[in-house]
Amino acid sequence: MSIIVSCARGHNASTTLMVDGEIIFYLEEERLSRAKYDGSPLMGLLKVFEYVDHIDHLVVCHTHRHGPVLDWCGDDLYQGMIRKISKKKFEFETHFIDTIHHEMHAACGFYNSGFESAACVIADGAGSFLQYEQVQDTFYEFESIFKASYPNVFEKVYKHIGTKSSIGLFESEPGVWLSEYPGLTKMYEAVTQYCGFPAIEAGKLMGLAPYGKPNEDIPEFFRDGWGNRDLIIPTYPNAAAINVNRYPILRNDASEHEEGVYTDVQKDMAYAIQEATENRMIELIRKAHEETGETNIVVCGGYGLNCVANYKYWQAFPDLNIYCEPISHDGGTSIGGAKYLWNSLMESESPSKQASVYYGPQYDVTNYLDEVKESAEEYQTEYELSDVSDDDVAQLIRDGNIVTMFQGRSEGGPRALGNRSILFDPTIKDGKDIVNSVKRREWFRPFACSIKKDKVNDWFDLAGREETPHMMYAVKCHAGVEEKIPSVIHVDNTCRIQTVTKEQNDNYYNLIDAFEKLSGVPILFNTSFNLGGDPLVETIDDAIKTLSKSDIEYMYLPEIKKLIKVPN
Ligand SMILES: [Fe+2]
Repeated sequence: MSIIVSCARGHNASTTLMVDGEIIFYLEEERLSRAKYDGSPLMGLLKVFEYVDHIDHLVVCHTHRHGPVLDWCGDDLYQGMIRKISKKKFEFETHFIDTIHHEMHAACGFYNSGFESAACVIADGAGSFLQYEQVQDTFYEFESIFKASYPNVFEKVYKHIGTKSSIGLFESEPGVWLSEYPGLTKMYEAVTQYCGFPAIEAGKLMGLAPYGKPNEDIPEFFRDGWGNRDLIIPTYPNAAAINVNRYPILRNDASEHEEGVYTDVQKDMAYAIQEATENRMIELIRKAHEETGETNIVVCGGYGLNCVANYKYWQAFPDLNIYCEPISHDGGTSIGGAKYLWNSLMESESPSKQASVYYGPQYDVTNYLDEVKESAEEYQTEYELSDVSDDDVAQLIRDGNIVTMFQGRSEGGPRALGNRSILFDPTIKDGKDIVNSVKRREWFRPFACSIKKDKVNDWFDLAGREETPHMMYAVKCHAGVEEKIPSVIHVDNTCRIQTVTKEQNDNYYNLIDAFEKLSGVPILFNTSFNLGGDPLVETIDDAIKTLSKSDIEYMYLPEIKKLIKVPN
């Protein structure tokens, strides 16, 4: 038996426990600590020893070896934690991964894709923090292409590595470019900040972008394929800033604007950076295909969560097999690290596609009601309990209620896929405003939906593809659909959709089916079970706490066919 624990630190810390090649759990630290974007995978390590009493390998995935956070404790922190919390003495091998962050993104995507070989395209904020003799400054991995094959080959085809220093551009080894030009994800983050959001919430900009329009007065983000250094002031690793002083059109005093009000230039900037980065990614995918000969493409790294761009790759490359990794952010590198080590140890030859991203720990359903009772007492919340069928819950949703659903193992990555979801009727005209207000999100942010896979082609254009089970693509709806399900169709007539089959999620499929019988619509409005700014709920306790502090009244527990009502 081989027990691998892999942890990723950074702004999306996570822990993966893998026994004999099988992921027992993958859990983002914020789900346990309840601190959004928690960067230290320590509670995850504690969780490991609820399942095993020793480990054989510890993988520690960093972006940098001695950053400010670790100066006082060194990398030995994680080894030390393991020794302190396990109840017995054992030897284990530690593998520090700090200079190949992009390889770990590639490993996560490649091993999950099910491809036997692939070209991996990685686009990331800052990647590994690297040093080069030629320049006394830190370098950051921006974009990479690898040719990947089993058991553990990630051959470097292209890398763009950038720094703050004025070094111009030069090729340090074949395919590896050192430059002063910003990476595409950093530029996206710069515009995110320009529009008033923290850099880490770049996903919000994707929602704002379709409110903008082409504006020829906005400077080019790319020149000859490289980021415009005149427009971007590097403040890496954390962010980058827009040089508003150089371009008068960009000057705007955010303090003069009310919260939630965006200027036309801000919206046009959002539009421009979305389009420019999509096009740059399309160039990189083309390069990956041409230089490796691969028709299988894996997209991963922070920009891989850009579901609007992901759909553009489908449209641009009808003949390529494109897999966009659902856990593209840094949390996924603990999966990459675990699978990379496992495949290195086993020298395995054959791919195994990930069945799902329901990676959280399995909880005991027979304890659910006791946990509800305890949590309700703790939060001094009254509740009612009733037996229900899927038809009853579908009727509640059809009557305009917001209903949360809690079941099974939680979803890895940022998307709720029916195990920790807030559900609503997609046909309600102002549903987007209602749920944005209840969830305390910005007014412009769109919502996703889940649809029975066998009906998806009646409603959406999947650009020739079959399914999108992990909600990784914002796809165009067919003409007229925007009037039938207005609360989930964005202003550009797209929706980030999840296709659902009985095999993937039986309880969820049955509920959507029951809703279809009532409404004729095989679709549910689906958003993550949390309030704005909170991590996705992980436990029953988190769920009851969320109900107790919001206007949401219902929680459906389909495994035991119970409904909890917290009257507000
Ligand atoms: Fe990353």
